[in-house]
Amino acid sequence: MNRKDQHAALANAFYQDGPNDFDLIRLLHTGFPEMAVAETDLTVDVLDTTLSTPFYINAMTGGSEKTRELNRKLAEVAKACDLMMATGSVSAALKDPTTADSFTIVRETHPDGYLLANIGAGVSVPDAQRAVALFDANALQVHVNVPQELVMPEGDRDFRGWLTNIEDIVNHIEVPVIVKEVGFGMTRETIQQLVNIGVTAIDVSGRGGTSFTRIENARRHKHELDYLTDFGQSTPESLVEALEVPQIFDLLASGGIRNAYDIYKSLVLGARACGVSGTILHTVSKKGVEAGIQQVEAWKAQLRLLMTLTGQKDLKDLRHVPVTFSGNLLQWCHNRNIDIRKYSLR
Ligand code: FNR
Repeated sequence: MNRKDQHAALANAFYQDGPNDFDLIRLLHTGFPEMAVAETDLTVDVLDTTLSTPFYINAMTGGSEKTRELNRKLAEVAKACDLMMATGSVSAALKDPTTADSFTIVRETHPDGYLLANIGAGVSVPDAQRAVALFDANALQVHVNVPQELVMPEGDRDFRGWLTNIEDIVNHIEVPVIVKEVGFGMTRETIQQLVNIGVTAIDVSGRGGTSFTRIENARRHKHELDYLTDFGQSTPESLVEALEVPQIFDLLASGGIRNAYDIYKSLVLGARACGVSGTILHTVSKKGVEAGIQQVEAWKAQLRLLMTLTGQKDLKDLRHVPVTFSGNLLQWCHNRNIDIRKYSLR
């Protein structure tokens, strides 16, 4: 089976919406929000645009006939719900132009959408430009995925020069550039390195949902790297790390988003918007486009309830909404010298 088809099939097979670190975050209840649900405003300013919704369909797929169909369905959901959407890595189409239509289908389906092209961190500047040009992408995602490559039987084994390459891409690409993980999260040190080279948008994409070490290990004959299934920082851990970096940048969250509450918690922890992959893939491939649209619309409606619950009319500054942490997340803050009272007494 084609690798991209395998990835989608395995992500679906392993999908579960069980407990993750978002469950370790609690919002504080206050008695008097003094506002109405009708007053809530879901718009957010991010990258060089204003989104009507603070979540989006994150990078997944393309590169084969089956994934063309999947991208078409995801783009239909994005169009019906006015969501930003990323394709999976365009590298496949740069190597084999006969697969280009599995990516351009997204633009065909959603002509006015804010669409993101996706490439790996080792790709040259001209290839990054070709990736953007392929479907007139509004922004570019550059993924960093060392654990995935190392567990992937046929993956990269040499990661020299990624940072300088990303710097080159940021300096030469006309559209906004987002650097993203693929479900392993980031530390403040990694984020600081990216900020230092001029990166202004970062998706921490943490552990808690799709695990690419698990997926790639399943593709190995002996499955011997099973112990790396839970490798990496969770999304909440990565977000509290990101907030330790003093510079301002567009912080995006993804990894393990199961519902509107996880999105809202991410926004409260400082994210401008949230990417969803595994959950939407699962709904759309198992139940179809209409179910995907219903899920997205339900999440939008629930976000309005959650905003009212915490007395927030808009999403401009949720960083003052108090939250408490427990379990591993609390332990993480302790180990990493992150002052939890910044969150619980704000
Ligand atoms: C992905 N992801 C991904 N990321 C990326 O930057 N480029 C890619 O080509 C892909 N491919 C891909 C395929 C499939 C089938 C899935 C499910 C995911 C990673 C994705 O964008 C995200 O970072 C992680 O999946 C974590 O989010 P979820 O799935 O827990 O919501």
